Amino acid sequence: MKRRSFVKRTFQWGAGLGLLIGLYSWQIEPFWMEFVRLKMQLRNLPEGLIGKTVMQISDIHIGNSFDYQYIIDSFKEAQELKPDFVVYTGDYVTYEDNEQLNQLQEVLKFVVKGAMGTIGILGNHDYGIDFVEDEVAQKITKSLEEVGVTMLRNDAVEINGLNFLGMDDFWGSNFYPEKATAKYNSDKANITLCHNPDVCDLPVWNNFKGWILSGHTHGGQVKPPFLPAPLLPVKNKNYDAGIKDLKDGRTLYINRALGCLRQVRFNVRPEITVFELTREV
Ligand SMILES: [Fe+2]
Repeated sequence: MKRRSFVKRTFQWGAGLGLLIGLYSWQIEPFWMEFVRLKMQLRNLPEGLIGKTVMQISDIHIGNSFDYQYIIDSFKEAQELKPDFVVYTGDYVTYEDNEQLNQLQEVLKFVVKGAMGTIGILGNHDYGIDFVEDEVAQKITKSLEEVGVTMLRNDAVEINGLNFLGMDDFWGSNFYPEKATAKYNSDKANITLCHNPDVCDLPVWNNFKGWILSGHTHGGQVKPPFLPAPLLPVKNKNYDAGIKDLKDGRTLYINRALGCLRQVRFNVRPEITVFELTREV
């Protein structure tokens, strides 16, 4: 009799704990954004840019899979930090149909912009269903440009001595990264925007030295404590989240995403990254 009640109570505790973890992963963590603050050391950084900030926002995934008022609220919080540069590293929508283009425009009324510049690239989800709809990619590009985001599709832009290279997405139909890296300027400070970190392992870098800002993985969204995230959409499973020293003069940063694909996160909070620029000596 005693043993039976012990088993029953253990089962009740287990079920209660499971329910709490489930509720937390569904209703709390996906909307619990963290500002991650880091220093970004760049060679050749102009004197005037020392101490300025680059804010990275990635993978907002506007659509019907979660309440995107959270993205608008996060944008408002981010604006209060008055970033000098803002970069968007792709996956603006979780595309089902044209409704997401309207939803994105609604969110872009609150777009966070940098005092010195705002730059964006596309991710795989910006290419519509099965990532093959070029027309969707063009419409998303246009919506962002209309609100003042400079979209780089295998191109570069230099702002106040800081050279931003932007690659189009690896899984999309316009992936010509060499066009971007051809504009690498070793006399300047350089940052590459590249949605999918797997691109770091391709021979397309033109001896690039500098930082690479990526997204795409969402950090796996669910990560058991002390274990690797089981679901990572990359070939190189080392590319989960955070800083990766590629040991050849390139430093990769993988942002954990602000939005999510499915509304579940555990031990991988959504983030907006704020880099403070410093000069490499
Ligand atoms: Fe994504």
